[in-house]
Amino acid sequence: MASKNYSHLSLIYPYIMRSIDYVKWSNYIYSISKQLRKKNLYALELAGGNGAIANKIFTKFGHFCISDLSMYMLRSAGNNLDKVCCNMTELPFKQKYDFVFSTFDSINYLMSRQKILSLLKEVDLCLKPDGIFTFDVSLENNSKLYQKYLNRKGSVDSIKYVQKSIYDEVERIHYNYFEIILANGKKVEEIHKQKIYPFEDYFTFIDKSNFYVYKCKESFTDIDAVTESERVQFILKKKRNKC
Ligand SMILES: C[S@@+](CC[C@H](N)C(=O)[O-])C[C@H]1O[C@@H](n2cnc3c(N)ncnc32)[C@H](O)[C@@H]1O
Repeated sequence: MASKNYSHLSLIYPYIMRSIDYVKWSNYIYSISKQLRKKNLYALELAGGNGAIANKIFTKFGHFCISDLSMYMLRSAGNNLDKVCCNMTELPFKQKYDFVFSTFDSINYLMSRQKILSLLKEVDLCLKPDGIFTFDVSLENNSKLYQKYLNRKGSVDSIKYVQKSIYDEVERIHYNYFEIILANGKKVEEIHKQKIYPFEDYFTFIDKSNFYVYKCKESFTDIDAVTESERVQFILKKKRNKC
């Protein structure tokens, strides 16, 4: 079922993400899809939010579908995209895709090991045998480094907001609290929780799935990821295709 998550944050999301280079990010994702060496790929984006990536690359694919748990985020993704509101741990697709991807810490929203395993199982079911599943995850050093920059306030289109960002090292949960004052003066709050799993845990999860780690790099680079990396990009393939 669609959640109320991002119901108000979606109003200011493009503004709070304005420093993110989505052109670079889109090109990076597209370059990973090219590793499949196939034309007219069928692509599925999970947790695609307001379409910041999708709108830049959807025309490069034979078919492109953006999905997200939040209908509010999808609504603000424009009218040019095929959109499906769904949980990435319970995918409703009969269609098989060549390329499934997720960006910007979205996998960190899965708060339990079981949910990550469900994600891997569900993607396996809708990915073609020779397909690629790629996603980035935020690691502890990213949380430690950036939490101070995410304590901020601002205003956009008569909407004011205050963001507080706290990384709890014991629970390994990164909290983002948003207090939003809407144009009509109503005050609303949204709390976003992300689980910061140890780097090695992802390999344990993936070992239990039908995937193997084809590549794991520091995001946007060709450097092999390590525990101390900030953001890492997993590129997975299906085990049965491993030679
Ligand atoms: C940080 S935003 C990233 C959005 C987009 N990928 C981007 O790069 O701008 C995280 C997104 O994950 C979505 N999300 C969180 N949990 C989800 C779930 N279980 N299934 C699908 N989407 C989810 C949220 O609704 C939100 O749009």
